[in-house]
Amino acid sequence: MAVKWCLAPIDFICYHCALLSSEERIFMELEMEAKKLIDKLELEHKLDKDEWISLLDSCSDEVREYAAEKARAVAQSVYGNDVFIRGIVEFSNVCKNDCYYCGIRAGNCNLERYKLTEEDILQCCKAGYRYGFRTFVLQSGEDLSYTTEDICRIVSRIKSEFPDCAVTLSIGEKSREDYAAYKEAGADRYLLRHETANKAHYEKLHPDEMSWDNRMRCLRDLKELGFQTGCGIMVGSPYQTTECIADDMIFMSEFKPEMIGIGPFLPHKDTPFKDEPKGSYEMTLFLLSLCRLMLPHVLLPATTALGTIRPDGREQGVMSGANVIMPNLSPTEVRDKYMLYDNKICTGDASDKCHDCVEARMKLIGYRVVVDRGDYRV
Ligand code: SAM
Ligand code: FES
Repeated sequence: MAVKWCLAPIDFICYHCALLSSEERIFMELEMEAKKLIDKLELEHKLDKDEWISLLDSCSDEVREYAAEKARAVAQSVYGNDVFIRGIVEFSNVCKNDCYYCGIRAGNCNLERYKLTEEDILQCCKAGYRYGFRTFVLQSGEDLSYTTEDICRIVSRIKSEFPDCAVTLSIGEKSREDYAAYKEAGADRYLLRHETANKAHYEKLHPDEMSWDNRMRCLRDLKELGFQTGCGIMVGSPYQTTECIADDMIFMSEFKPEMIGIGPFLPHKDTPFKDEPKGSYEMTLFLLSLCRLMLPHVLLPATTALGTIRPDGREQGVMSGANVIMPNLSPTEVRDKYMLYDNKICTGDASDKCHDCVEARMKLIGYRVVVDRGDYRV
């Protein structure tokens, strides 16, 4: 239901409002309440749990656009019209874990596995550097065949060949000692989505061998070791409730990550969650805006999953407050094997095409892809 906003003074019943049904009046009041909460979030950067639940439950088009407009302005005040790009190298789809949602889980026997060599990874970065990337994200399943020494050597080779570039790792849960070694080798950032701040919810998404406490321990270690640290969630993951998302927002407002990865859950045909509905596109955009208002400086990607759920999803993500895009730098031959979910975009394109496509898309909405490491700004 779309109800036009009444601007009449509070003690004056205008002719239009007098004609509204009681249902429409309630809806208008809810929207007004939601806008007040958005104003409060913008000013104070936090809400309590009941306020989060009430705001998240009021995600109408009008409320979402209200939040997006404010989030865009906040992003522009910190990062201007710049969009940072990160070249993502998905260097192995081997994973020891069995997350129920993930297409590269160990239990998926229909997937051909691959691992890139050190030289392959360096070649991807070399090509990426030519296109203007100044951050390389090395992502993989939890593949134990790459030792700590292997990862450290790869990181330090990238850092010495491209000293003006940042390296982000996204290789899962490790010991504090391993994280310290990666930092020592020169890694700048680490992405590890917490997936959900609600332990009971976490246990519905993962088998018993996986532990929410350990994931949270990893995030604390990464922060303490000085990484620019990224956490995040899938929107609409199975069993997620409004309360779970409220917990996520409160966790993030306290943890203060430098990066937040938020994208819709999308089912994969070879997982236990194959028949679950996908996450909401609108709620993903709304959450991007709310994250920007909560943590104005955060590095916030418009994710590939958002571009998969809607053709212009990444553009709309930026219009909702995101400021990072992560085009694929993996060799074309392996891209369709890093299928976290069905129909993932950009699996057939060469790296230069992905870069040019993102640049053109951003230009169309008045944003500029910059040649920059794109560090967190304090
Ligand atoms: N292994 C590393 C880790 O666990 O952090 C990095 C790779 S993991 C595949 C990267 C992220 O993909 C996960 O944190 C998860 O949020 C997301 N992901 C996995 N399956 C997904 C799905 N079906 N839909 C949307 N996102 C998904
Ligand atoms: Fe590999 Fe989840 S399936 S980390």
